[in-house]
Amino acid sequence: MPSKHILLLPGDGIGPEVVAETEKVIGWFSQHGPVKFTTSMAFIGGSAYDATGTPFPDETLAKARKADAILLGAVGGPKWEGLPYGSRPERGLLGLRKELGLFANLRPALCYDALADASTLKRDVVAGLDIIIVRELTGGIYFGQPRGVEQLPDGTRRGFNTEVYTSPEVTRIARVAFELAKKRQRRVCSVDKANVLECTEMWREEVIAVHKESYRDVDLSHMYVDNAAMQLVRNPKQFDVIVTTNMFGDILSDIASQLTGSLGMLPSASMGEPGTPGVFEPVHGSAPDIAGKGIANPIATILSFAMMLKYSFELVQEAHHLERAVMHVLDQGLRTADIMQPGMTRVGTGEMGDAIVKALGPN
Ligand code: IPM
Ligand code: MG
Repeated sequence: MPSKHILLLPGDGIGPEVVAETEKVIGWFSQHGPVKFTTSMAFIGGSAYDATGTPFPDETLAKARKADAILLGAVGGPKWEGLPYGSRPERGLLGLRKELGLFANLRPALCYDALADASTLKRDVVAGLDIIIVRELTGGIYFGQPRGVEQLPDGTRRGFNTEVYTSPEVTRIARVAFELAKKRQRRVCSVDKANVLECTEMWREEVIAVHKESYRDVDLSHMYVDNAAMQLVRNPKQFDVIVTTNMFGDILSDIASQLTGSLGMLPSASMGEPGTPGVFEPVHGSAPDIAGKGIANPIATILSFAMMLKYSFELVQEAHHLERAVMHVLDQGLRTADIMQPGMTRVGTGEMGDAIVKALGPN
């Protein structure tokens, strides 16, 4: 039987709790699926800083490079907020993305019928929603130079970051979006701020060029980010694939999560060039306020593993099987606190994980 190695990076806050539930799911597939999965663990984020003095230890990067795929929980927390930027938990995650060249971040927002009432938006606005945000992940203002805060002679300070993209960076992410759209409704909306920022005007021109050259069979539209944010809550079903910059994608994907009922539902996949291990992680953060209480929703992480099955291991049927198991448990009325609704059964993190494993089939 073929064997694949998954590196687990639980991280901080609720990260270890949601990863532990996903391990149960990995175990089930290892036992019942066509591929055997082995796992190992490494430090990242604040817990890595506490254990080793850095949020992104060399050993973690070395293990990551050797893995077939990586499952990450979450990083960050108030405990590490006062640290210099280079030592903050977030640097661990950003370092991992950058070092592995994971430029394409796929964030699908699907509204399961059972959760249409859990969203703060009206049922008919979100029911049946199926969109995907393709976020550029290794460029833009997150990584642009120069950056920093400087002291000015008059005693005031000046802080600065740089939004920067090269044309190859734009073209490769545009291609990912167009290729995805071809397997969906063939519609791509590129989101920018071309009316104000030169860098994103260039983004728009490059996306248009890729479209003209290779993807005339896909419908391409453009939207300014402020309008896109509004359209996402006004009528999200108008979208199919959204492609955008690193920072706009960060913001729009948090908005999109609320369309699915809860931030606790949104998985993501970060992919690089073929042959690079992908990183699969929930879109939500470490949620320090509920960490250790056993009430976090593990579904976003479990669905991230479904994305791993599909995108890293080409186990498409197995991915669907897992998605159906999640749907089944939601149809049964089981709910963690974040998606709790009147008349439903409230369960904790572990119970939710166990119910999903049970829904996968006999052990
Ligand atoms: C995300 C997160 C990260 C980001 C943080 C934790 C660095 O918000 O994955 O969306 O901004 O990319
Ligand atoms: Mg974010």
